[in-house]
Amino acid sequence: MKYELIATSAMGLEALVAKEVRELGYECEVENSRITFKGDELAIARSNMWLRTADRVKIKAGEFKAYTFDELFEKTKAIPWEQFLPENAEFPVSGKSQKSKLFSVSDCQAIVKKAIVERLRTHYKKTSWFEENGPLFKIEVSLVKDVATLTIDTSGSGLHKRGYRVNQGEAPLKETLAASLVMLTNWTADRPFADPFCGSGTIAIEAALIGQNIAPGFNREFVSEGWDWISDSVWDQVRTEAEDLAKYDQPLEIIGSDIDHRMVKIAEENAFEAGLGDLVTFKQMRVQDFTTKRDYGVIVSNPPYGERLGEKSAVEQMYKEMGKALIPLDTWSVYIMTSNENFEKLYGKPATKKRKLFNGFIRTDYYQYWGKRPPREI
Ligand SMILES: C[S@@+](CC[C@H](N)C(=O)[O-])C[C@H]1O[C@@H](n2cnc3c(N)ncnc32)[C@H](O)[C@@H]1O
Repeated sequence: MKYELIATSAMGLEALVAKEVRELGYECEVENSRITFKGDELAIARSNMWLRTADRVKIKAGEFKAYTFDELFEKTKAIPWEQFLPENAEFPVSGKSQKSKLFSVSDCQAIVKKAIVERLRTHYKKTSWFEENGPLFKIEVSLVKDVATLTIDTSGSGLHKRGYRVNQGEAPLKETLAASLVMLTNWTADRPFADPFCGSGTIAIEAALIGQNIAPGFNREFVSEGWDWISDSVWDQVRTEAEDLAKYDQPLEIIGSDIDHRMVKIAEENAFEAGLGDLVTFKQMRVQDFTTKRDYGVIVSNPPYGERLGEKSAVEQMYKEMGKALIPLDTWSVYIMTSNENFEKLYGKPATKKRKLFNGFIRTDYYQYWGKRPPREI
């Protein structure tokens, strides 16, 4: 059976998610924050296991125009929900509405719920209430310009929850965004990698997972593992594939450092939890003191932005000192994400390229300074 699947993406990361979906072998289409592709049960399991940059994987149960509540009810009822939901399914309905006639989200949710109940009642020949004490199917009705899209979440916790973050600092980066930052660089596993503002270690840990081709979902479970129409053998197959494709022997040179020794400890704990304790090195150090004897490395960092009252001038001073330390490393490529619009001036060098990215709701730029190419690439 083929399903229509949606990998949801943060704004601005659609192209990366689409690339990952294609690399898994599925043709896809890209819309705003949604990458749509077709696949079977194995595709559901594989995309959850492997997508590093997507937020979730959902099944598109149906999509139609709905201008009235009657239309929403009838068209929802026409979807073969019994193909997905067993008699004891727990199926909460959430909703959202943008630029649509049906703008009352709570009414839309209630109507969708009622329509599904009616459909299942007829199918399961049920006269009493559904107990909803079985597996979870989170349903969403999303109305955009009068088009209703009904989806079922297959991921459970968002895909950024890899299962390794036991502790965090003040402004941890979402794992999906950290992976994206690494994937937007020219880093390959044979080159040194550093994050001199490592905080809880997210970027360094995601780089290590990428470097050894370890599936981001290897350490967690997914809600669709509880569904009886995706057999255990599918999940076994996907976990075996992940194990087979991991390159545990790939040596890596990844260093995370931070001015705050408490963050260094947290980063170490997180890396240990990810099973990468021996692979990533963390140490306490100021970015101003960053030096290296190695060539052709890559720095990826998410420094403080200085947005809080009273912090701006200290952060701007630190950006100047960072430029003095990093610009001389001319074989290194440096990638910095910050919301400070003056960054290039403070750092002391115009970026080779910049790319607009959102860190949650904060608009940032990803400043990219490409280093000299290694001789063999010339
Ligand atoms: C936005 S946080 C990084 C969060 C990290 N990406 C994560 O996922 O947890 C910025 C980090 O920069 C560190 N920092 C601030 N000034 C620094 C400096 N001069 N040198 C090195 N680290 C510094 C802070 O201690 C903080 O942990």
